[in-house]
Amino acid sequence: MLIDCSVWTSVRSSFGTPARGANPNSRRNRENALHIAVVSGCLDCVKALVEAGADVNAKTKDGKTPLHLAKFKGQREVADYLLSHGVVLPAPAPISMKLATADVEKGRTYFTSVCAGCHNAAPQGGSKAGPNLWSVVGRDKASVAKMRYSEALLGWEGVWTYEDLNRYLFGPMLTTPGVYMETPGVPDETERVNLIAYMRTLSDKPIPLP
Ligand code: HEC
Repeated sequence: MLIDCSVWTSVRSSFGTPARGANPNSRRNRENALHIAVVSGCLDCVKALVEAGADVNAKTKDGKTPLHLAKFKGQREVADYLLSHGVVLPAPAPISMKLATADVEKGRTYFTSVCAGCHNAAPQGGSKAGPNLWSVVGRDKASVAKMRYSEALLGWEGVWTYEDLNRYLFGPMLTTPGVYMETPGVPDETERVNLIAYMRTLSDKPIPLP
């Protein structure tokens, strides 16, 4: 394929030409050629790299996948191409039945140290970088007034159930590509269960446990 694009020229000068034997998955600093091509929105570059064997699920050093970057940057065609070429969206195992025995205090401590910088959890508090999380369990997704949400979150229908929170918090950029909450999430199940059990208490009338 002949690609007439400045992105391709610069990708080749940094990473080499895949058709001439350069490893399509080699990295420079934080990212690889596919991440750069995706962010630049060059679909032909993305195709050439994937056809040469680039891993469509490769993460940047800070955990961003090609699909997350494409959606975050609004590169729709690139996102569709990646989705039809092997992207895997992880789905954590269900946790609802573990909430009853969770350690709510540990969840509170976790929230205070990891989430509270971006999220208010008191009824009267406004939004910070992220929306207020008072009463978030059972609340419509992406529904806090005046908050500017990503298309990724706006497009996810329904209220926040325990299992939806489980999926989201497992790794927002992995399970909900394009999300503005670009944090690693809470991959450890026990920590996640404790956290969700604590989030349940942020309400005048907590939703019953399953
Ligand atoms: C660096 C800032 C930041 C940190 C840290 C952060 N968040 Fe977020 N959070 C956001 C942003 C921004 C959004 C909006 C995402 C979007 O629109 O895509 C969000 C959205 C959410 C939502 C969806 C709320 C709604 O109104 O639909 C939940 C739930 C949430 N965060 C929980 C958490 C939890 C729990 C933690 C700690 C593990 C956390 N966040 C850490 C910035 C952050």
